[in-house]
Amino acid sequence: MPDARPPSARCRVVVLISGRGSNLQAIIDAMHAGNLPIELCAVISNRAQAAGLQRARDAGIAAEVINHQGYADRESFDRALAARVDDFHPDLIVLAGFMRVLSRWFIERYRGRLMNIHPSLLPAFPGLSTHERALAAGVKEHGATVHFVTAEVDSGPIIVRAAVPVLPADTPSSLAARVLEQEHRIYPLAIKWFAEGRLLVRGGDVLLDGKPAAPPASSGGIATKSLKDL
Ligand code: GRF
Repeated sequence: MPDARPPSARCRVVVLISGRGSNLQAIIDAMHAGNLPIELCAVISNRAQAAGLQRARDAGIAAEVINHQGYADRESFDRALAARVDDFHPDLIVLAGFMRVLSRWFIERYRGRLMNIHPSLLPAFPGLSTHERALAAGVKEHGATVHFVTAEVDSGPIIVRAAVPVLPADTPSSLAARVLEQEHRIYPLAIKWFAEGRLLVRGGDVLLDGKPAAPPASSGGIATKSLKDL
């Protein structure tokens, strides 16, 4: 991935949210713990009520709202969003519970530097209600995935996955809580790898330090070794 930053400069990151912001908090906490060498320039939400905005303000980070309801269509909202994002000159744009489908225009503009986290072991269960669907399907293993964003929803080159067991007594909320704990570990980790210039997208795959970043979900080796990094 091209990296135009001078070696001494920190990776500039803008985070997009729509709600609670617990992944944003995990990113802020990792930064404060000295584990994440980034400059978090701004948090932008499409919803004024997003609790994550207060998390950003509490950490002294610029927090702004661009309400999608004020725009005639998806692309005009995306253009306004991109204009504001660009004001911060980010190296990386992080989607952390951003609940708007982005236009192809927006995705192409930030190709290779737009990351998302999804609460399933992609390619299984793209879309919404992943925990309900995992339980209904009777899978033994579920989890979360960080990936670069491409035009198809919840697809794109996979950076890291973390698996959790599905237990017999699980409800959607107990399973969601187990998955969320892993989200909070792998998102800062993926961002750290990007910031350190260790990720390379080749074809549809991501290389970490020149080796495939995400082993197949069934291999049992999901990110276990890498998680010790953080
Ligand atoms: C997370 O489960 C994330 O995987 C999904 O939306 C949720 C956002 O949660 N994309 P939070 O706002 O980070 O707490």
